[in-house]
Amino acid sequence: MSSGKQGQERSFWDTKTQQFHGGQDWKMCGDRFVEDFSVTTNGLGTPVKALEAAADSLKTCDHYPPADQEPARSSLAQFLWPDTHDRNHGRLILGNGASELIDLVIRQAPGETWKPGPWSVQYKEYERSAKTSGRRILEASTEERASLVCLVNPCNPTGDYLTWEEVVAWIRQHALPGAVVIVDESMQLWHSPGFREDSLASHPDLASTLLAEDGLQLYVIHSWTKIWSCTGLRLGSVVTPSAQHTQALRRVQVPWSVNTPALAFLDAVVRDTEYMNQTWELTPVWRVQLIDRLVDLSSRLPGPAWEMHGKPFLSWVWVDVKEESLADRLVHLAREAGVPVRSGRPGYEQPTFVRVAVRESGKVDHLIQAWESLLN
Ligand SMILES: Cc1ncc(COP(=O)(O)O)c(C=O)c1O
Repeated sequence: MSSGKQGQERSFWDTKTQQFHGGQDWKMCGDRFVEDFSVTTNGLGTPVKALEAAADSLKTCDHYPPADQEPARSSLAQFLWPDTHDRNHGRLILGNGASELIDLVIRQAPGETWKPGPWSVQYKEYERSAKTSGRRILEASTEERASLVCLVNPCNPTGDYLTWEEVVAWIRQHALPGAVVIVDESMQLWHSPGFREDSLASHPDLASTLLAEDGLQLYVIHSWTKIWSCTGLRLGSVVTPSAQHTQALRRVQVPWSVNTPALAFLDAVVRDTEYMNQTWELTPVWRVQLIDRLVDLSSRLPGPAWEMHGKPFLSWVWVDVKEESLADRLVHLAREAGVPVRSGRPGYEQPTFVRVAVRESGKVDHLIQAWESLLN
């Protein structure tokens, strides 16, 4: 196995045909594996009751999953809209991870141009899908409006965040009349028990107003694989502008794309309020502790101080260590010690950055120990 800069891509991804993503290195660690700091999954681990429900459902794997994705779809609707789920249920579709739905919405969207959100870099699947569907890629900073606009809020990996009013203002400024607009709120779930107030999906008439006044079709994407730490199960959803848009999307979706264990998991996990309460309570505490350890380590190393990026509620820290060779070394040392982190180099092309997931302090000890070898 090459440990060079591009070693990860050679091993796991065919970068001629696939977009590089992290989350693969843990396999390489073998017996040395301790904890995966390279993915933005919930530091609490997979919710136990939901995992049991998924495992139990395997006994029925000789049957097809329900074609209407029920009762999991209704359960998720109740989670997203506790008071108005009946009204919004028809706007919801589940997918095999958000990735399936990102591609599904983009492939059926009309128009020629694509534009990302206002950040220096954002989660890459939107761009990949826009490119493979033949679109012209616009820089976020250009004034030209696009026929397809995709904004990741909060932004993975930078940790930037806009309020819902700011998002709407940005959309109105950057989307052409008639454009498809996708807002990815996967990481907003960490915000607080009040996350719904910040969600574009929760503002009752927003999608219909944008459609009527600006001709904009608003799709809100959620990946559920990070907040509930189930990346291997594959679970995502999209809230479409209207029931008619849902029908149009369902017409082009592969049947049974969400499998039986994933549906059983979802149906159970939305009821695990204790898990969510713990998430909102512990993640910001662990994040502060992690940042303290990183700042301390940086102060003991020669070279410029590291910069920590991202909102306090998020499940990761986007760390600018200021030097490419140092970032590469940190990635290598972490992998060797069984605590992989995400390099900012492949995919994101931010070679002085590493992304470190928020984990409890006992696990962070292993990472800091691995990096303290740089002091010798
Ligand atoms: C912002 C964001 N959206 C969507 C996804 C895709 O998630 P999945 O396909 O696992 O649901 C990710 C994965 O990292 C992500 O970070």
